Amino acid sequence: MPMRIAINTGGGDAPGLNAVIRAVVLAAINEGWEVYGIRDGFGGILDPEKYNGQGVVRLTAESVKGITHVGGTILGTSNRGNPMRWPQRQPDGTIVEVDRSDEIIKAFRRLKLDCLIAIGGDGSLSIARHLRDKGLQVIGIPKTIDNDLGSTLMTFGFLTAVETATDAIDKLHSTAEAHKRTFVVEVMGRHAGWIALFSGVAGTADVILIPEIPYRIEKVVAKIRERYERGREFAIVVAAEGAKPVGGEPSFVEAARPGQEARYGGIAEKLARQIAEMCGVETRSLVLGHLQRGGQPISYDRLLALRFGAAAIELVKRGDFGSMVSLDPPDVRAVPLGEALARPKLVDVNGDVVRTARAIGISFGD
Ligand code: F6P
Repeated sequence: MPMRIAINTGGGDAPGLNAVIRAVVLAAINEGWEVYGIRDGFGGILDPEKYNGQGVVRLTAESVKGITHVGGTILGTSNRGNPMRWPQRQPDGTIVEVDRSDEIIKAFRRLKLDCLIAIGGDGSLSIARHLRDKGLQVIGIPKTIDNDLGSTLMTFGFLTAVETATDAIDKLHSTAEAHKRTFVVEVMGRHAGWIALFSGVAGTADVILIPEIPYRIEKVVAKIRERYERGREFAIVVAAEGAKPVGGEPSFVEAARPGQEARYGGIAEKLARQIAEMCGVETRSLVLGHLQRGGQPISYDRLLALRFGAAAIELVKRGDFGSMVSLDPPDVRAVPLGEALARPKLVDVNGDVVRTARAIGISFGD
């Protein structure tokens, strides 16, 4: 009997998801195996009526042709799809979270699926680990534009997001200079400031604010004032959405709801107001938001995604379940899922990129 492999994509999308799916499907077919895609995280199993019997679909070479360079995911995804905390509407209209993970295990048995390749960030991979604990054979593939997963040097999608953010910062430079304005650019990164750090340094921002280094608004203002006084009458501040002042909290646009995390956001607008008031310079804010998750993956991310997909099939071949593929240059290797999820990968505040930024005069507001 050929091996029957299930694959799904969970959480926020990231450029390169389709390339992973393609590599998994082609490498599995090469082994004489079959691949089945679960739609919208676990929605295809837990909400079957929504999919007209097409919640779990066979993926062939035909289904994955021409998708390596395409953003998004042909399987769909969801960041409200935790089977252990599945939001269910009650007769009185309220929503409560119920654990439906046993239904996934049963569905795998019913559909004769041998294992799951779960492509996701910390949330989706924690779900995969929970299913592993319930007896499912799982392999994880790390994905997030935030690059905050432990035990892998990088996740695919991250550098594409950095490219998008750097391009935006480059473009803001000319209009900032023309109008003698300060711009505050908000980029993604709830707990880790990787996108802000990389795009801020590459785009030569004046101030970079990341969750790992709480800022003092007085320091941010002092840096901007010093620039204007020196005759450079414009400034760029790049802030991760999770940036927070010393002793303070990050900004949120929405509190957590059942099955969902709190939504970060609002830091750029808040900072722009403070800078305008305290510094007396014209200030504007820009939230890059989901633009960072969209579009074609850059070649590095395509390659990484294809490598991760092929490596996952090698792990299936070796029977190395309960592990995650990880980038450990020059190779891709396997690490236990538990190790990868033990702690998030945060920016090293004494690391080389932070030191580089400081050396070229970029302030972290500390
Ligand atoms: O993928 C992670 C992330 O990009 C976070 O940085 C961001 O806060 C979140 O996703 C937003 O996701 P959504 O708006 O889809 O809930």
